[in-house]
Amino acid sequence: MEITCPKCGFSRTVDDAKIPSKKAVVHCKSCGHKFPLARARSIAVLLSKGGVGKTTTSVNLAAGLALEGQRVLLVDTDTQGQDAYMLGVKPKAGLTELVTKELKPKDAIFKARDNLWLLAGGKSLAGVKRMIDRKDFGGEMTLTESLAPLETQFDFIIIDSSPGWDPLTVNVLFYAKEILIPVSLEVMSLQGLSEFIKSLSSIKKYRKEVGIKYMVPTFMDERIKNPGEILEKLRKIYPQHICEPIRYNVRLSEAPAYGMTIFEYAGGSPGATDYKALVKRVLESDDEE
Ligand SMILES: Nc1ncnc2c1ncn2[C@@H]1O[C@H](COP(=O)(O)OP(=O)(O)OP(=O)(O)O)[C@@H](O)[C@H]1O
Ligand SMILES: [Mg+2]
Repeated sequence: MEITCPKCGFSRTVDDAKIPSKKAVVHCKSCGHKFPLARARSIAVLLSKGGVGKTTTSVNLAAGLALEGQRVLLVDTDTQGQDAYMLGVKPKAGLTELVTKELKPKDAIFKARDNLWLLAGGKSLAGVKRMIDRKDFGGEMTLTESLAPLETQFDFIIIDSSPGWDPLTVNVLFYAKEILIPVSLEVMSLQGLSEFIKSLSSIKKYRKEVGIKYMVPTFMDERIKNPGEILEKLRKIYPQHICEPIRYNVRLSEAPAYGMTIFEYAGGSPGATDYKALVKRVLESDDEE
């Protein structure tokens, strides 16, 4: 694995077997900077159905973890490129330049907040998908190979994904160790969930360790009876994975227009409270669970 110093960008290759799973401290041979070395926990926020809160959850989970002092890389694998918009930043490069090796990892990422970096998505990812499609061999490992040099620089890598099912979605499933599924509390979304789980099991044949880690109910509206029934169903089917729901909160839909996370835009809102609880749950659970 390649280890890159976060201060001066000096890289060196270290045998994977020599990298401890627990945190160790590395001395940069070039500038002497000391930095912790451990592989980031990688959490992919995924569901083929559109508009279920994937981007809202990715951005606010990443921002909430960063506020807790974790070093976080948010990766946008969607051509819509909304993560940058939600954070109110305009990076000139992102995931495309990393995958095509036009830029070094340290130049492809963009510092969006304290402790929070973004590997931006956007239209150019369409070319990346074509590139993956054209590979005769190993196309599904493209993202894994590209993110490897960044893994030791962060505590968390949070991956936002696009609706639908495309070569990048498959890459995300071959990369992430933990999967978080936002389920909007409406009947249609349960149908979407069962279809997604079928597709996931086709990946599981090749990568046994991939599985659902967190199921996050979104758009919970306590005034309506139906969402409560769906939530109960989910609790029965996925008792270990179900998280506390994210309530419907208009502040969450307003914040992106100001380029702010929910913690910046409305820190006392139900949306901020619910995402804080999700951050806590993620921090308290082990990546091996
Ligand atoms: N809990 C919530 N309460 C109110 N509005 C929300 C909530 N979560 C998300 N939204 C709003 O719903 C819309 C869809 O959310 P979001 O973009 O996060 O979904 P998505 O799954 O990423 O969509 P896509 O599949 O298109 O990528 C956005 O306008 C967002 O601001
Ligand atoms: Mg999205």
